[in-house]
Amino acid sequence: MASPFPSVPSLVAEARALYVQVFGEEEAVLTAVCAPGRVNLIGEHTDYNQGFVLPMALPMVTVVVGSQSCGQEVSVVTATKDADQPLQVDFSLPTDGAPLSPGLPSWANYVKGVIQHYRAPPLPGLKAVVCSSVPLGGGLSSSASLEVAFYTFLQQLKPDDGDKVSKALACQQAEHTHAGVPCGIMDQFVSVLGREGHALLIDCRSLEATPVPLADPELLILITNSNVKHSLSASEYPLRRRQCEEAASVLGKDSLRDANMKDLEEAKERLDDVTYRRARHVVEEIERTVQAAGALKRGAYTQFGRLMVQSHNSLRDLYEVSCSELDELVSAAMEVEGVYGSRMTGGGFGGCTVTLLQSHAIDKTILHLQKRYSGTPTFYVATPSEGARALNLS
Ligand code: GLA
Repeated sequence: MASPFPSVPSLVAEARALYVQVFGEEEAVLTAVCAPGRVNLIGEHTDYNQGFVLPMALPMVTVVVGSQSCGQEVSVVTATKDADQPLQVDFSLPTDGAPLSPGLPSWANYVKGVIQHYRAPPLPGLKAVVCSSVPLGGGLSSSASLEVAFYTFLQQLKPDDGDKVSKALACQQAEHTHAGVPCGIMDQFVSVLGREGHALLIDCRSLEATPVPLADPELLILITNSNVKHSLSASEYPLRRRQCEEAASVLGKDSLRDANMKDLEEAKERLDDVTYRRARHVVEEIERTVQAAGALKRGAYTQFGRLMVQSHNSLRDLYEVSCSELDELVSAAMEVEGVYGSRMTGGGFGGCTVTLLQSHAIDKTILHLQKRYSGTPTFYVATPSEGARALNLS
């Protein structure tokens, strides 16, 4: 069975109860917001190469509930299981423009980073509670959902100009400066701009997004959490990014988005084997993503599925960011009749796979994966959901 996850109203109720417990009486200006995690259908490790990605926002969200307080004091509590201790942080907003330094607990760095990069300073003091149904460290962008939710919360206290792309960019900056991850724009972008019933084809160079309908009742998207996270992910991600930049520079391009396979073959002798393979993944993956979006629009699910598997194989063999657990899950999924395609999703080295399948095949697919996977998987059936939003508190 797929795992149930708490609804948005129940997360809000949990966050409100914790707010009252920690801060006492509910205050008049109490406000609530949420922002989703994401799953990427195809277009992996292409965003920081200015390429295309095709993610969708998840029904799993991070909720922030809170209010403005007097003075310059910030007090934030998390109800997130598995967050590092302490679960409450208190600090003063800098009055002299000094930066808010990252530190421990690490979950609070997302909050500090977003405050730092908020586009309409100065901010008032605040009290807030964070609560999330996005699994932590599972490759479903729990961190981007926290950044975007917190930014959306700040917008309720002191509105900025409402520009959504700039909001996503500010949250990406928070991740760079305060979490130390040189991520691309995909996760924050789709958490802000996700559309119910649609995947988003995002051009990470122009930052334009095209919604692609994804609400066929005959089709399901299954996320399988391998429940493993290899420590490699922290060091390998920036390394991949550097290798891509190096390849682009050897090719004389601003980014690999501007390169095609002919350019790459011509430059092959000037690239070492590893850098060549990294660049080849990116160039081909960008092309696959555009093709996949077209296939999805036409309802050509078999073609879409084939592209997903090609993407996985390329991430495994050329980009080398998969791992045996993810490979096992993908191979097992492809053995089930009614499965169109399956691949690892997100940065890699653990986390989740995403599988596109005919609705009627869901139970047998889950059973088969449970039987064939050497670890203990968790399953989520995901419907494309809305991006960040303010919530009504009644
Ligand atoms: C992580 C990053 C994204 C993207 C993916 C790989 O999720 O946060 O920006 O690079 O990895 O596609």
